Amino acid sequence: MKILFLLSLTLLLFGKYMSNESCKECHEAIYNEYQSSYHSKNYFTDELHHKVADAVDKNKYECAVCHMPSANNLKDLITGKARPDKKNITHTDAISCFFCHQIAYVKKAHKFNINTLTRQAADYKPSLFGRLEDPDENDKHSSVKSPIYIQNACVGCHSHKLNDNNVTIFKAMKKNQDSTSCVKCHMPIVKGDGAENMDKKARGRHVSHRFLGIHDKKMRQKSVDINLTLTNNQIRIKLTNKMDHPLIIQPARVKYLIVKVIRNGKVIWKNYTNSPREDHQAFFEYTFKDKNKQVIIPAKATSIMYSHNLNARESKVITYKNINLKKGDKVIVSMYVRYAKQDCSKVLNFKDKNLKKSFLIKSTFTTVK
Ligand code: HEC
Ligand code: HEC
Ligand code: HEC
Ligand code: HEC
Ligand code: HEC
Repeated sequence: MKILFLLSLTLLLFGKYMSNESCKECHEAIYNEYQSSYHSKNYFTDELHHKVADAVDKNKYECAVCHMPSANNLKDLITGKARPDKKNITHTDAISCFFCHQIAYVKKAHKFNINTLTRQAADYKPSLFGRLEDPDENDKHSSVKSPIYIQNACVGCHSHKLNDNNVTIFKAMKKNQDSTSCVKCHMPIVKGDGAENMDKKARGRHVSHRFLGIHDKKMRQKSVDINLTLTNNQIRIKLTNKMDHPLIIQPARVKYLIVKVIRNGKVIWKNYTNSPREDHQAFFEYTFKDKNKQVIIPAKATSIMYSHNLNARESKVITYKNINLKKGDKVIVSMYVRYAKQDCSKVLNFKDKNLKKSFLIKSTFTTVK
């Protein structure tokens, strides 16, 4: 195993690129799941990413390292000698199957980590890493069961990212955290063969490639626990982050609570007047600034202006006192997310309606006895 690993790293010639579409011939279910995932979103199909990227730099596309890692002209994109191209499949394939399954090693670095891929001599089949015991042969690629693969698969892109001024744009993982747990939550085992068109082993299950996250209603519900108790005219909410990463790991997002007391069908109290942001203790976000003022595009920031977040598995107790609660009052607590915060929408003018709305994460209620 070790010898093969080293050998593949030292073979210097790159093999030919295999497109996402080419995997469909044998891995149709996985291909379809992947197509619905955010990993298949590219510069042209993800408006939020596209608009932020253009606001950062109209010439250089440095984001390609993680957002377009299969690009056959990656250096040119980064240095501004080339632009994203709708007709280039290595661009539109985004976080491609072929890229992700060739990650052999992740170099830890200060600004962001770097994925190192296996390299094949031009006349050999590419080796793809995975988890299968005794995988069946096929004529398109070799299969390599690697215990290291699952540990490294997400760390190269998802761990952290700093801008040129050393300001943290996101930090989803701790220094020595590997990606075994990420795969458990985000790639659960589902029914159906993973290589159905060559179904000799008839495994009957595979790891889901939908990579569900914040954009999925059911997945969102799993992110937090909201524990609500009422005592002596006081509302007490214990909010627990159940994820192995901070509550917010994408600076465009905000998450917040709306707390309401309902009496005879009417709202008699709520935790804000005009905007949920007024209630700082229940509004989660982080914002950036340069020397003088707030900046919306994190790439340009020189420091963090304000941060209110929950760490992995962390809880926070929020209380509202002196509320004149009566028997029969209904107290409702709901948590919401906005994919692009309002400040960001103002500057970037989105067409996609979903970027201008709030989505429910979870809601709970109790009645005064
Ligand atoms: C080190 C890898 C890395 C680099 C470099 C990188 N990103 Fe990302 N980006 C990610 C990851 C991982 C996610 C998904 C994380 C998430 O959604 O929380 C992401 C998500 C995003 C999103 C949210 C997309 C959505 O639809 O919700 C935006 C916007 C974004 N990146 C902008 C940029 C821009 C602009 C650049 C270049 C200036 C860039 N990123 C460079 C790793 C990177
Ligand atoms: C000609 C059919 C065929 C094509 C095309 C194909 N595969 Fe496979 N692949 C297989 C078979 C067969 C297996 C073994 C399945 C089993 O044993 O259950 C496999 C296994 C795998 C594994 C598991 C490896 C392991 O060691 O656990 C991965 C990962 C994989 N393929 C990725 C890909 C990707 C990515 C593509 C497209 C770039 C692709 N395959 C294209 C037939 C194919
Ligand atoms: C080559 C870089 C790269 C690797 C490796 C990678 N990701 Fe991502 N991931 C991204 C980027 C970039 C995005 C955001 C794409 C966008 O929104 O345009 C993303 C988005 C996501 C999302 C958000 C989905 C949503 O709907 O909000 C999840 C969940 C995710 N990745 C999980 C994983 C897991 C688990 C692994 C490891 C098995 C992994 N990623 C490996 C780059 C990567
Ligand atoms: C205990 C389950 C669990 C584990 C472990 C876990 N996540 Fe998540 N993650 C979630 C849930 C649930 C969501 C969706 C709700 C949300 O974002 O608040 C999510 C959301 C995400 C998102 C989308 C966030 C956004 O705003 O775009 C990314 C990216 C992500 N996770 C990556 C990872 C990575 C990388 C790891 C490994 C360090 C990981 N997750 C580990 C449960 C988990
Ligand atoms: C973001 C990284 C990533 C991307 C993109 C990705 N995979 Fe995977 N894939 C994984 C991980 C991680 C595993 C599970 C490895 C483990 O459990 O050790 C996996 C497992 C597999 C397996 C074995 C599945 C099983 O359980 O039977 C196959 C086959 C496979 N992938 C094919 C594909 C194909 C085809 C695509 C594109 C349509 C693709 N993958 C895209 C990360 C990725």
